[in-house]
Formats: sequence, structure tokens, C-alpha cells
Amino acid sequence: MLVHVYPAEELTCRAAAFLFAAQLTQKPDSVFGFATGSTPIPCYKDLISFYEQGLLDFSQVISFNLDEYCGIAQDHPSSYHRFMHENLFSHINIPKENIHIPNSMGVDACERYDKAIEQAGGIDLQLLGIGKNGHIGFNEPDDAFSCGTHIVKLTESTIAANARFFKDEKDVPRTAISMGISSIMACHSIVLIATGESKAKAVYDTLNGPINPHVPASILRLHPNATFLLDQDAASML
Ligand code: GLP
Repeated sequence: MLVHVYPAEELTCRAAAFLFAAQLTQKPDSVFGFATGSTPIPCYKDLISFYEQGLLDFSQVISFNLDEYCGIAQDHPSSYHRFMHENLFSHINIPKENIHIPNSMGVDACERYDKAIEQAGGIDLQLLGIGKNGHIGFNEPDDAFSCGTHIVKLTESTIAANARFFKDEKDVPRTAISMGISSIMACHSIVLIATGESKAKAVYDTLNGPINPHVPASILRLHPNATFLLDQDAASML
């Protein structure tokens, strides 16, 4: 596992964009795993800029997103579908049919998502943020690590943290669909970005505490090709 600490948020996210750019340059039909949240936005801005400059071509890329809320429409202002289109997909040349975002509709929604990842040959490079409680995707602290894509009950701390994206905390969905810990660990490479002091404790517990499901991100220490990109604030407790 690699850990890099950068002097500023912008540089931390640019380092992640470089990893995506290198992967795409070496494999034009890369399978990318994307994440939502405020953290990756500067990385997506850089990828858009690289595309606009003619450095990157996303025409053969296949993408899978980590998670989505249950019970809100795809075009809801706070859906992750909407977020990804506004912050990345509508600005690059990835074909619409190559984009996959979990959708909780249908009894076999989770199995179908896992099958689609498998059929694409697995995820080459997965981007992750981290929740203040150490969650990745929507894999919340629990007594056991989750397996494949599954429906999750969000914790009060995640609901409170994500309320900023909704009009009111009561509007935040209580459940979500998320790729599981096994799905994440099966990705060939992983890059986790953490920026800001509010992530310092989660980063400390992830890298220094015991590997355990109460800090879901801690399992990444067992991944053969995981890179942590931190700004100084997120690394301040290390
Ligand atoms: C959400 C997402 C996660 C993300 C986390 C942190 O819960 N499901 O994938 O990593 O929030 O978000 P932020 O980057 O806004 O702190």
C-alpha cells in the first residue's frame, strides 16, 4: 500500500487525476470505478480539462459507480446519477451506454450490477473517498465486512454528513445501494483520496488501527495495489 501526502487539496486530487490519465493512456478501454461526494470533484475537473486539451479520450471507457441512494429518481437534484452527469459524464466523451450506476429497482438489481462488472472484466482502477466514520462507498461500520453489491441502511452520522446535499436532513434517503467490500477489494487498483481535517480521524483509524469492519476502509491495507492520496489536513493525525 502506498500513502502520499500533499501540501494542498488541489494537488492531492490532481495526483488522482494523473493515475486515471496514466491508466487510460495505457489501456484506452479501461474500466473505471467512480465515486461521489465533494472530495473527487477537483479530480473530475482535472480529467475534464485533460479531455478538453485533447490529452484523454474516454470513448472506449466503461464506468461503474460505487453507490446510489434508494427511493429517489435518477434526475433528483441530489441523486448520484445527477451528480456524475453534472460533474463528469456530460463533459467528456464516454458513451452513455458504457456508464453504470447502481439502481435499486428490481429484485435482482444487486446481482445484475455484480454481473455487469464481471462481464466488463472487472474494474481496472477504482476511485474512493472516505466517510468520517471510515465508510467506503456506502459500506458502513458493521460487525462483518460486506460482500457484493447490496442494500445498506445508512448510519445517523452518514445521514447527517450528507444532509448538506439535500434541502433538509429528513429528505436524506435512509437506504442506499452500494458495491460491497468484496466488490471493492476485487478491483485491480484502488486510489483513495482524503482531504480536510474532518477526515483525519478516519484516515488515522484506517491506517493505524486494527483491520476491522467497524472501520470499513481499514481492509484496503490488505489490497495489493491500493494508493492513499492525502492532503496535510487529512494526514494530520498520522
Ligand atoms: C458518501 C459517499 C462516499 C463518499 C463519502 C464522503 O457517503 N457514498 O462514496 O466517499 O460520502 O463524501 P465527501 O467526499 O463529500 O466527504
